Amino acid sequence: MTYIQVTGGKKLHGDIEIQGSKNAVLPILAASLLHNGVTTIHHCPIISDVECMIRILECIGCKVKKEHSTLIVDASQLNSYRIPDEYVSRMRSSIILLGPLLGRQHFVTISYPGGCTIGARPIDLHVKGLRRLNVDIVEANELLTCMTTKLQGNEVNLSFPSVGATENILLAAVLAEGTTCINNVAKEPEIEELCRFLQNMGAKIKGIGTDTLVVEGVKQADLHDSEFTVKADRIVTGTYMAAVAATGGKVFLRGAVKEHMEEVIQVVDQMGCITKATPEGILINQKARPNAYDLLRTKPYPGFPTDLQSPFMAALSIAKGNSILIENIFEARYKVVKELLAMGANIEIDGKVAIVRGVNALKGAAVRSYELRGGAALVIAGLVAKGVTNIHSISYIQRGYEDICGDLQKLGANILYRQEEADQE
Ligand code: UD1
Repeated sequence: MTYIQVTGGKKLHGDIEIQGSKNAVLPILAASLLHNGVTTIHHCPIISDVECMIRILECIGCKVKKEHSTLIVDASQLNSYRIPDEYVSRMRSSIILLGPLLGRQHFVTISYPGGCTIGARPIDLHVKGLRRLNVDIVEANELLTCMTTKLQGNEVNLSFPSVGATENILLAAVLAEGTTCINNVAKEPEIEELCRFLQNMGAKIKGIGTDTLVVEGVKQADLHDSEFTVKADRIVTGTYMAAVAATGGKVFLRGAVKEHMEEVIQVVDQMGCITKATPEGILINQKARPNAYDLLRTKPYPGFPTDLQSPFMAALSIAKGNSILIENIFEARYKVVKELLAMGANIEIDGKVAIVRGVNALKGAAVRSYELRGGAALVIAGLVAKGVTNIHSISYIQRGYEDICGDLQKLGANILYRQEEADQE
């Protein structure tokens, strides 16, 4: 098995290109199923979650061509109503295939979704929303069977602005008859990107960027071949910002979008960084050991993203002073704490609250990632630790980062992929 080895102590310097957004491309790939033709998507990240979505599309009859970071999806010949269990258990986002497949085929079955181990992650909001659009959903034996005679537009009120539920209902509404009004939607930039992609394909959507999306259903024939370029991944951007805040140095994050990063920029500013945004990207400069951050709460966008809580916890673990973190979105997102403690961090957990007491230094250790962003947090911890850190179970990290070692090597870090000795024999 491959693991990541980091020898800490180097400041980061240089310029890296930020990969396309995972959380934008996954629903966009699902949305390509709505059209009985060809969709071209540029700047797709080459990560295992995207590979998984490609396999699912192929299993249900799509032809997918990959040319570097461009994916060309031909969804003209769908031939299955079942989303294969093997991939569903690997990737929770597969649930968002329900909306487009109901639009296209009126029938779909899927087993309960898997994904990162960061809490219960229920799907009740998806189910309730789709039922409002005239979908019958039967839940039995860990399987959801969804069918409709005709998708019918309706008003849907989300009790929480769930990203996935917003996407699923939006995708179902595109080919529904009449108007769908979705209230209290998620406002994450990836929702806006999905809306722009759908508009570009011929869908009719109003209210983009607000709390309410209004979708005027169109006919299958109104959708057409389209081309779209995915924006930079704001979570990868934020991970590298946390890394620079921790190690010190000066890095240009090419392609990073300032408007998506306002809350994160405000946090790194307080940690002592100086940032400068240009139309080409964001420059981050950190000269000293980071300052602590009084109270960091994760919230739906535009609040601080839950996906960056662990990377920032790692950076704050060596800050000057104490920080308090409150995780409001996923209850099990503190699994990485055990590993950070093994590296010498001083962190106390009480339910949603983490008290991070900054220590002078972390020490290298053998650690394990349990989920994607927690894994990235361990890489950051390794970058600032004294000595060598070996991070195991890196397949979680590869779900979301194209090449975290390659990126950080370019910035001068002492980091590489290694093979377990048993594998080399
Ligand atoms: C998406 C992102 C993930 C990010 C999260 C929150 C993708 C592929 N993943 O995940 O990286 O961390 O948004 O920004 O885009 N909930 C319910 N019932 C539901 C659905 C959600 O109770 O039916 C709850 C969840 O348990 C969680 C909260 O709502 O507590 C947020 O979940 P949601 O916004 O749906 O996140 P995901 O779409 O799963």
